[in-house]
Amino acid sequence: MALIAPSLLSANFLNLQADCTMLNQSQADWYHLDVMDGSFVPNISFGPMLIDFFRKATSKVCDVHLMIEKPENYAEAFKKAGADILTVHYEACTHLHRNIQQIKGLQMQAGVALNPHTPVSILKDILQDIDLVCLMSVNPGFGGQSFISHTLNKIKALRKMIDEQSLNVKIEIDGGVTLDNAKSIIDAGADVLVAGNTVFKSANPIDTIAALKSI
Ligand code: DX5
Ligand code: ZN
Repeated sequence: MALIAPSLLSANFLNLQADCTMLNQSQADWYHLDVMDGSFVPNISFGPMLIDFFRKATSKVCDVHLMIEKPENYAEAFKKAGADILTVHYEACTHLHRNIQQIKGLQMQAGVALNPHTPVSILKDILQDIDLVCLMSVNPGFGGQSFISHTLNKIKALRKMIDEQSLNVKIEIDGGVTLDNAKSIIDAGADVLVAGNTVFKSANPIDTIAALKSI
């Protein structure tokens, strides 16, 4: 059974309280919170201030996905805001190991996200130091895009790397997850499904989360 992490990027920002209440009553495991800086990705979303509100609205795990340059400048602010998991992009970190050490030193779980073009093989010498790999199955920046099917091969290859080393690293899939492709993603070896539009644009988000959970 996969963990389900609805992405609040697709929530109704005029009534976040209602969406948080819905998520809290649902079988969702994590809040997936997408931070974008308008530089690493061509969109701007929100920062620590809003994460702080989400933290106060839920006891679920706050899974913060940083799509920003220089994440080292903000790790402490996200810790203060209440992030449980802090994920940085491989492509944004020249000194990735240092970034991971910083996140762990702040007592958060550390994740590394890979863009669709980045091979999972580059994780070989960092995998033992992290808690989560976020495989982007769309180009980061926007919700509502279509799943890039080659991601399934990346999931299988990463699953093999993790299992061969008997590591406890979760594989999270982010972008274009639907009720139709979720089974193939889980079968390939994913542990966590992020879902934005599939949850928030559905007629009954609570039922959609339950349906994803039951796959
Ligand atoms: C994209 C974000 C995703 C996005 C997923 O850059 O990282 O988390 O919100 O949205 P959907 O599920 O609609 O593709
Ligand atoms: Zn994300």
